[in-house]
Amino acid sequence: MTTPICSESDLREFLAEAQADLGQARDEAQLEAVKVAYLGRKGRLTGMLRALGRLDPGRRPAAGKAVNQARRELSEALRRRRAELREERLRRSLEAGQLDVSLPGRGDARGARHPISLTMERILDIFAGLGFGIATGPEVEDEHFNFEALNIPPLHPARAMHDTFYLERKDLLLRTHTSPMQIRYLQHRKPPLRFVAPGRVYRRDADATHSPMFHQVEGMVVDEAVSMADLKGLLEKFLEDFFGPGVEFRLRPSYFPFTEPSAEVDIRSASGAWLEVLGCGLVHPRVLENCGVDTKRYNGLALGLGVERLAMLSLGILDLRSFFDNDQRFLAQFRR
Ligand code: PHE
Repeated sequence: MTTPICSESDLREFLAEAQADLGQARDEAQLEAVKVAYLGRKGRLTGMLRALGRLDPGRRPAAGKAVNQARRELSEALRRRRAELREERLRRSLEAGQLDVSLPGRGDARGARHPISLTMERILDIFAGLGFGIATGPEVEDEHFNFEALNIPPLHPARAMHDTFYLERKDLLLRTHTSPMQIRYLQHRKPPLRFVAPGRVYRRDADATHSPMFHQVEGMVVDEAVSMADLKGLLEKFLEDFFGPGVEFRLRPSYFPFTEPSAEVDIRSASGAWLEVLGCGLVHPRVLENCGVDTKRYNGLALGLGVERLAMLSLGILDLRSFFDNDQRFLAQFRR
């Protein structure tokens, strides 16, 4: 395109047009396009400069000066507009990323201890305060520890009470109670002794009051002349610490192969009903003999607490299964 060299007024008009185009440019890319259209190799102003060569030599200096002047003005306008656009871009990005430091924070969602853990901890605390040591042992047991050493021989009807999960290797099983810890603890220690053993146990049943996995705390005292009165005194102390003074409980005669006599302990619940929470008794002499304890000198007491039962009673929970559903709305209630 050749632009004729023109009068001063034509140049002014040209400049005004260029200014308007610059004003229209909304961002730096559009501005660049305007620059190319006017000042680029094939731009309009460049065309004018080239056309100077075709002028009368006499008119060239004045015309050249005027076109150069126009170019300087255009360059300057371009620079100003570029600065404007840059500033606008900065302002817009600051506005978009604005941070209101006066807004309240989002808060951090904190986890809560599981009610079974909390209950377990309370139980162990009470026994620790009475001088009991704490011991843990394996959940995969064999028949010797889970049954035989506890005076439950093969084919003994008590085995049917336990609904055992057997593993593929035939003598291995998931422990059905924490009582094997009686044997494990006695194997390596000399009486007098007292300990509690918390942990998971497994039985093949599941309903509102039974879960295939649940928790027990085994308790054992081996000493000289341990009596049912000692057992009852220990239970009373534990239950009053756990439930508060005035808790109503009863010892109901029962049967376990590893204790003689045996009892189950019931707690009077808020509804008035009696609820079983533990089994206990004086350790059967055969159990102590199996562990090499001198039964002429020592005897013992043992108890096995159901942790879920105690948690349900103390926290007012009606369905055992809520402990294992992992519903956050349920679990968050026990935050401490
Ligand atoms: N092991 C028994 C059970 O799981 C409870 C128990 C423990 C009974 C210790 C007496 C002594 O049912």
